Order: sequence, then C-alpha cells, then structure tokens
Amino acid sequence: MAMRRAKISVIGAGNIGGECARSIAMKELGDVVLVDIQNKDKPELHMPRGKAIDLACCGPVEKFDARITGTFDYADIAGSDVVIVTAGVPRKPGQSRDDLVAINAGIVKNVAQNIKQHAPDAHVIVVSNPLDAMVYVMWKVTGFPANRVMGQAGALDVARYKTFLAWELGVSVEDIQGLLLGGHGDDMVPLPRLTSVNGIPVQDLLPAAKIQACVDRAKVGGGEVVKLMGTSAWYAPSAGTIEMVEAIVRDKKRVIPCAAYCTKEFGVADANGGKGLFVGVPCVLGANGVERVITFQMNAEERKFMDESISHVKDLIGATVKLFPELA
Ligand code: APR
Repeated sequence: MAMRRAKISVIGAGNIGGECARSIAMKELGDVVLVDIQNKDKPELHMPRGKAIDLACCGPVEKFDARITGTFDYADIAGSDVVIVTAGVPRKPGQSRDDLVAINAGIVKNVAQNIKQHAPDAHVIVVSNPLDAMVYVMWKVTGFPANRVMGQAGALDVARYKTFLAWELGVSVEDIQGLLLGGHGDDMVPLPRLTSVNGIPVQDLLPAAKIQACVDRAKVGGGEVVKLMGTSAWYAPSAGTIEMVEAIVRDKKRVIPCAAYCTKEFGVADANGGKGLFVGVPCVLGANGVERVITFQMNAEERKFMDESISHVKDLIGATVKLFPELA
C-alpha cells in the first residue's frame, strides 16, 4: 500500500503560522507548506521561503523528518489534508478582536477563495480574528461541509484557564480537566461546574472568587499578552491549533472545544432566529474533522452566558455582512 505523509498548509507565515509550522515538524504530523504574501512584489525578498529554510534546518538537531516549503503561490497547497489559516492583522494594544473585522474579513475571504480553488478536499482550521466571524466567512466562501470548517479558540481559551487554575492550586497543569463554551475570549462561557483536578471538583478545592478570577483572567488572557508585548500571542494559539491538527491527522477522536457549526446543539438556532452559527462547543475531532458536537444540559446561569455569547457572535457576523454584503 502506498503511504504518504499528511500535507498541512499554513496560510500566513507570521508569528502564529511560523510556530504552527515548527510544531507540526517537531511532532512529525506531516509536511508543511507555508504561504504568505508579504513582500510578494519585491523579487529580492521571499519571507515564506526564508522562514521555511530556517525551520527546515532545525530538522537535524530536533531529529524530525518533515518537508517544509514556503511559497507565494496558492497552487502549492493542492492536495492539502489540513489548511490552517492565520492570515490577517493581529491586535495592537487598545484594540479588541472585533476591531480587526474590517481588514481581516477581506483577507480571509480572499484566502477562502484560494482554498476552495486549490485544496477543495482540505479540512480548514481558522485562527484569524475575530475568530467566530472569520470561521463563518471561510464556510460561506468555500461552501465546504461544516465538518471540514472549524475555528481555533476553545483549545486556547481552555489552556489559559487551566494554566491559571494550576498556578492558583499549585498542581500540575496536566491534572486539570476543564471545559469552556461560547465565543472566543471575552465572550466565553465559564464552566467551573465541569472543572476538576483528576475528577475532584475544583469547587471543593478553591473558593468561588478564586475560580472566578481564573475565568476572568482567561477571558482577557489574550489582551493581557497584547498589552505586554504590543502584538498578540502566538505560542499558546499555535499550541491550541496543533492540538486540533494532531487530532485530525492521527484520527484521535479528541474532545476539544472548537468553533463549530451548530443548529439545535446548545439551542443555538433558537437563540439566533432559527439559523445556525459557528460557536465554541465541545467537538469530537478525528479524520472526518468535526465528527460530532457533544451536548449536555446547561444550568440556568450557563444558559444565560451562552445566549449572550451567541448574541455577540450574531452581531459580529452582522457587522461582517454589512461590510461584505455578498457574505450574507
Ligand atoms: N494571504 C496570505 N498571508 C497573508 C495575507 C493573505 N491574503 N494577508 C496577510 N497575510 C500574512 C501577513 O503577511 C503576515 O505574515 O499573515 C501574516 C500574519 O502574521 P502576524 O502579523 O505575525 O500575525 P499573527 O500574530 O500570526 O496573528 C495572525 O491570528 O490570532 C489571530 O488575531 C490574530 O488575526 C491575527 C492572526
């Protein structure tokens, strides 16, 4: 039987894209094609190729076998199993994710057209912000089935939440189980009820105010880093993205919160005038992308947060469609 390595394309070879490429190679998840348009009009400069060469030369030291190439040409993504989309501008201090919509919706629309044309069978993981609206743009423009279009948000938000809890509890991050739902970041739905230290309810281990402080810090965790660095985070966003890629290319059936298309799940359509929406929910990720959304009964407080989150995502998509009416 002919075997081949997975092909994973990364659109946007900036901070997140570069770190994604490095992690894919380090974990030997597949070969990487880095696509960027930076300095495309200056023949002496070729940022994606330069970055690919630099990354490839880690191979002998890190002992990975992965072919890493960099290109301006979307034709090179042909045959990709997974495409990660990090193209777009990051936040600057004082900006919210939503402030990026005018620039990034146009970029993601263009990227989506290219993915549709050159990699029509790929699974697409969107990372560009504002995330929940950008996944919608990707889905709308590609017309791909919803199981092959998803957004990376929950994997990161939950990682931040677990990190802050582990610091507070003085235990290993490995021993924290947790889940968050809803939109990316500020908009997330906290679920301390479903958070534990190896099954021991976190609510038995920490006072409510301390848990809430960890939730609140996770909500604005991205903003905290933007303020400190002057640009947005890239290590943890990449780690969350690669967790999703690994689940797909190794068919692991991992349960990871992702922005996935929902209708009746968690009452999304009821809260959105009967229409479906991409929103953060626990998904089973495997070779068929989002293979299943796992639902559970929310309590009244969680329901309230979820409805607020859905309403915000709905407004964000409304703002996107106002700018690009063809995306309605
Ligand atoms: N096609 C390909 N690449 C593009 C395009 C395009 N149409 N438009 C922009 N890019 C590239 C830029 O040239 C840049 O190299 O996207 C890259 C983005 O990299 P950074 O500026 O380093 O941004 P990064 O921190 O990686 O964040 C990217 O992810 O989390 C989100 O909010 C973040 O929207 C931002 C995105």
